[in-house]
Amino acid sequence: MTVLNNTLTFRRGLTLKNRVIMSPMTTKMSFFDGVVTQDELNYYSLRSGEVGAVITAAANVQDGGKGWEGELSVASDKFIPSLSRLASTIKRNGTKAILQLFHAGRMTDSKVLRGVQPVSASAIAAERPDAETPRELTEDEIYHLIEDFKKATERAIKAGFDGVELHGANTYVIQQFFSPHSNRREDQWGGSLEKRFNFINQLVDGVISVVDNSNVQNFIIGYRFSPEEYEEPGIKMADTIYLVDKLADKELDYLHISLGDFKRVSVSEEYKEKSIMQYVHEKINGRLPLIGVGDVRTKEDAENTLANAELVAVGRSLIIDPHWTSKVLEGKEDTIRRVLADQDREELMIGNGMVEFLDFMMPERLR
Ligand SMILES: Cc1cc2nc3c(=O)[nH]c(=O)nc-3n(C[C@H](O)[C@H](O)[C@H](O)COP(=O)(O)O)c2cc1C
Repeated sequence: MTVLNNTLTFRRGLTLKNRVIMSPMTTKMSFFDGVVTQDELNYYSLRSGEVGAVITAAANVQDGGKGWEGELSVASDKFIPSLSRLASTIKRNGTKAILQLFHAGRMTDSKVLRGVQPVSASAIAAERPDAETPRELTEDEIYHLIEDFKKATERAIKAGFDGVELHGANTYVIQQFFSPHSNRREDQWGGSLEKRFNFINQLVDGVISVVDNSNVQNFIIGYRFSPEEYEEPGIKMADTIYLVDKLADKELDYLHISLGDFKRVSVSEEYKEKSIMQYVHEKINGRLPLIGVGDVRTKEDAENTLANAELVAVGRSLIIDPHWTSKVLEGKEDTIRRVLADQDREELMIGNGMVEFLDFMMPERLR
């Protein structure tokens, strides 16, 4: 069985000092235009140094992809100096820095976009209260979007990050192309499972070519996905098994599942015998490492996650206790802070925007 403090070397040669990764978490702390703030640097500094790698909050690759206020941006070269500060803040004591790249697609609104209508694969609104109907992207705009992910990757390299993660999870634009709910196209980008995968296929190949044609050494390219949607039609486990099989054959460094609970079982009748992670891990079959995630609070949870993954991502536990990793690795679990008290927020560098998000994600752990 994999031990938490074992190293791991990725396909392109980068080695992580242990198997714990800080899960990507939006801080809502950036300036209005997406520049990193000092508060945000302090937040990351507090949580770097112990984990093998930190995956940053989602950073938008295009102005039209901004999902919320206080979001990080990598949409133009002007962000490179501020992103460099973020990368060097994270790269303390051997921790590696991975920039998460995303575009919100239909999961934003014209207020956040200052009067501009959101875009997506098709003009179908998300099933959530007050969701705006997006405008369908033209073929040219789709190629432009892929180019913008590639440019964002170049900027991450210039800023000194150790890698990028393509955020194909949590209902944002990459997932919107794969989902039969948000993608109703009948051209080369939609209409069948294979065609719904076309955007991801071209995006991943494009980003891989940017990295492999640059002079950067030991860079990581990861891909995150959500295994199931509850909408009808929506992404089901069978679609995800197809996606994972395709992606595992690419020159990616890792796949990263997005789950609220690492033990979660599928809603599909045909996939109920094992956990979702186990099905995914078995499909990958050692072709590349999988990052598991979801409500990991104890060493035992982390070790159980590693039964079906090579790496474990920890989110909320690291917000509440930035030293969760050293306490787990050094056998001091009894000293882990498990509840976020209001008076601890300043010391933990947790801003107002993040508290709103946390309130929604973990009410039972807030006091
Ligand atoms: C405050 C907050 C912000 C998040 N932001 C992101 C994000 O930007 N990108 C992403 O892929 N996941 C995001 N997530 C999901 C986490 O990465 C993680 O998958 C989830 O919280 C489950 O892990 P945990 O139980 O260890 O927190 C966020 C979660 C929280 C709590």
